[in-house]
Amino acid sequence: MVPDRLATGISSVDRLLGGGLEVDSLTEIYGEGGSGKTLFCLHVAHRVAREGRWVFYIDTEGVSVDRLRSIAGDELDRILKRLLLSTPSNLEEQGRAIATACALTREGKRPVGLIVVDSGTAYYRLSLSGADEDDARQTLSLAVAELVATALASHVAVLFTNQVWRSVREGTLEPLGGSFLNHAAKTILRFDRLPGNRRRVVLVKHRALPEGSAEFRITPSGLD
Ligand code: GTP
Ligand code: MG
Repeated sequence: MVPDRLATGISSVDRLLGGGLEVDSLTEIYGEGGSGKTLFCLHVAHRVAREGRWVFYIDTEGVSVDRLRSIAGDELDRILKRLLLSTPSNLEEQGRAIATACALTREGKRPVGLIVVDSGTAYYRLSLSGADEDDARQTLSLAVAELVATALASHVAVLFTNQVWRSVREGTLEPLGGSFLNHAAKTILRFDRLPGNRRRVVLVKHRALPEGSAEFRITPSGLD
């Protein structure tokens, strides 16, 4: 039987999530810069790849191999063999990279355990102030819908990171991707920075679990 959770290996987070990430839906992570979104994605990707399953990693931030090396150590080469990395340079390319990852996942020739899109909204944010705002919204929505459908069809976890904007009136940090993304994601996690290397994960939305929070620490070799 296919397990219905993908353990992250971070015990506090797995407890918060009732065992781990759902494998038939999309998990959105939002939080300010430096809150640990990328580190978390790399950590889970490393774990999946180490187990021998494939990871599609769509990276708009230029994740350095150095960051992965500090997590993977001597296993780096083995991990990289299972990591299908694409580095789109605009929103359209990001949409195409997501479409390709989804198509290959659904084809089922390789056992895919995880699809990561980090940052899912960096290019979208750039388009918001221009005349093509509607196109950008549509491109993002189509890509998210494709990820949702693929998660469901292929039982694969999807991590989609989202940037934030500051609501001056409310004094809060709000997710950028709009209501479509917030409906499409069946799990929403907010990452908060705490003093030093501590980070808080807040479970903002889940279809089966109550709201709650957990903490982890950033260490030289990843997350603890
Ligand atoms: P944005 O992408 O800017 O929104 O931030 P993020 O939420 O993805 O944060 P990220 O995971 O990149 O960073 C979390 C923390 O990791 C930072 O506060 C740094 O302390 C640390 N960090 C950032 N870059 C590196 C790196 O290259 N190596 C290591 N070991 N730590 C890093
Ligand atoms: Mg990041």
